Amino acid sequence: MSTHIGAKAGEIAPHVLMPGDPLRARWIAENFLDDATCYSEVRGMYGFTGTWKGQPVSVQGSGMGMPSISIYVNELFTDYDVRSVTRVGSCGALSEELELRDLVIASGACTDSSMNRITFEGLDYAPVADFDLLRRAWEASQGLPVTAKVGLIMSSDSFYASRPELTSRMAEYGVLAVEMEAAALYTLAAKHKRKALAVCTVSDHILTGAETTAAERQETFGHMVDVALSAMLS
Ligand code: ADE
Repeated sequence: MSTHIGAKAGEIAPHVLMPGDPLRARWIAENFLDDATCYSEVRGMYGFTGTWKGQPVSVQGSGMGMPSISIYVNELFTDYDVRSVTRVGSCGALSEELELRDLVIASGACTDSSMNRITFEGLDYAPVADFDLLRRAWEASQGLPVTAKVGLIMSSDSFYASRPELTSRMAEYGVLAVEMEAAALYTLAAKHKRKALAVCTVSDHILTGAETTAAERQETFGHMVDVALSAMLS
């Protein structure tokens, strides 16, 4: 057991799919994996291991925001020797070229978080995705009934932005969407020499105020899970 994950050594697969919502982790385990068993219920942040197309894979909830995902990713890398983590989550679109339900495959993540500024003593580190995961995710996304775009996202500490004009400025510089976890995931993967990727579905549009319904989110979440599993395991 690690501090926040109740799995024994060997119970977590080398490749981990990571939704923010632990109930999504259970939904993915039930609908996408074979022979899935729950290895952790600590704090309700479920983790499951099963197989996909015969290959072992785990799905672990991360919670919301960079402090929370950092706890789980640190422990996956240091206590369970996990090799790759692919986040599957939602994002708010900042680009006119994105529509609700589109996929954003994040090549890199800007951030307003102070975590890296503290780590790098004021220097700006550029957190980027693993190129092989990124390439395979892009390939897997072709032919889906939704559009997938590769580019920068912003990982924000705030869902309810206190300075929306700063988010808009990010958009002016080509940032496609905002979410709350990828920059920490990418930085930790670099630190531990592991692989990471974030694939996000557009759940809301910052420019238009449009939002998906719960049913739409469920339906399109499946495309993202397929893309992420193919990227890690094919
Ligand atoms: N995740 C989904 N929509 C978001 C938004 N508008 N801001 C931050 N994270 C999000």
